[in-house]
Amino acid sequence: MELKQQAIGVLRQNDRGGYTIPTASGLYPAQWNWDSCLVALSRAQFDEARAVTEIETLFGGQWPDGMVPHILFHGDDSSYFPNASVWQAGPTWRSSGITQPLVAATVVRQLFEYASDPAIRARLTALVPKLLAWHRWCYAARDPHGTGLVSIIHPWESGMDNSPLWDDALNAVELGPPVAHLRKDTGFAAADHRPTAPEYDRYINLVIRFRDNGYRADRLYGIAPFRVADIGFNAILQRANQDLRSLLAATGDIAGAAEVAIMKERTGTAIARCWHEEDGFFYGVDTRTGKIIRKPGIAGFLPLFADAEVAARHPRLVERLESWLARVAYGVPSFEPDRPEFEPQRYWRGPVWLIVNWMLINGLRRNGCGDLAARIRRDSLALVERMGFAEYFNPLTGEPLGGSGFSWTAAMYLHFLAGRE
Ligand code: GLC
Repeated sequence: MELKQQAIGVLRQNDRGGYTIPTASGLYPAQWNWDSCLVALSRAQFDEARAVTEIETLFGGQWPDGMVPHILFHGDDSSYFPNASVWQAGPTWRSSGITQPLVAATVVRQLFEYASDPAIRARLTALVPKLLAWHRWCYAARDPHGTGLVSIIHPWESGMDNSPLWDDALNAVELGPPVAHLRKDTGFAAADHRPTAPEYDRYINLVIRFRDNGYRADRLYGIAPFRVADIGFNAILQRANQDLRSLLAATGDIAGAAEVAIMKERTGTAIARCWHEEDGFFYGVDTRTGKIIRKPGIAGFLPLFADAEVAARHPRLVERLESWLARVAYGVPSFEPDRPEFEPQRYWRGPVWLIVNWMLINGLRRNGCGDLAARIRRDSLALVERMGFAEYFNPLTGEPLGGSGFSWTAAMYLHFLAGRE
């Protein structure tokens, strides 16, 4: 079967009716927030109506305060830890109690621009106030002092769970009771390709802390023992601010568009300040200690996705990306190769993730760096052609890692193939 048909087959196989699970391999048996959005982005190519349903189902789980959870547990979640009965979160206890990168507005804008059917446009238009409510929640709950940078309170909120960027902030969190015996992920994927036991103990300790505080948005920012203004999360939010503003304007909500323009202004200024002149890189900040997180993770390139002028202002950033690519067989590694923290097989500590490649390709194109974008696109297609639809890949060898038949890898392959990036 042609690879394109296989990619469509992966998305169909992981479709649970109204939402898509990340993989049928058992690793992630529920709906994940940004996975769903990125699946919708490419599903629209062959089934627009179903793509919109994906996002509608996600927003069906939106909390009254505007938050959209990082996981929605729709059915049997017994093969996942921590599952709904551990989280005990949300109005119906069917979700996690934290969020994930706000990529939805960017996806909805793309779907809106491609859609010619008025019924599809009407459904997308109905999502716009919900997107606005999520962005409002994000600023109110995670940037209560109006700095322009929002904080995440759990590494899982970054979507880059065990990135070395979190090591110091996470080490400051108490271990809590050990949970290694409760983990299910290591039954589905090799333990040395996954986060470590102490990391998991701390992840769960944070969940328990938030649960004990009733997941109250007005409380968690203050009590969170882990609190970081991630450069990646903020860059994705900033891109989404632009896309949301454009959607609001296109659908006639002028007041909403003006409100988001202010969010965008503030976050734009704050991200610009994250540039570290000496190192020539963008860094986030630990907002509990005030310390810069001075480590070269892939998140530091995401301002390219947020702002079409970044490459012109910071040519060294583009050179740095080129130097990373020169040291691997397949780009883009999730952490700078040759650093002590770099581990080419362990999840977000080195492997290549196609969804981040999409953000970089899209951002580089907007920044006038078409050649570099083309190299990353080529690598991405080659990985899938040679290695299949793995969750992530070893940048030095291309080895497929983590879950197989992975939805967002299939989705990005289709997206790259169609040249829609
Ligand atoms: C892992 C990833 C996260 C993703 C989830 C489901 O937790 O780090 O980004 O959303 O798996 O694929």
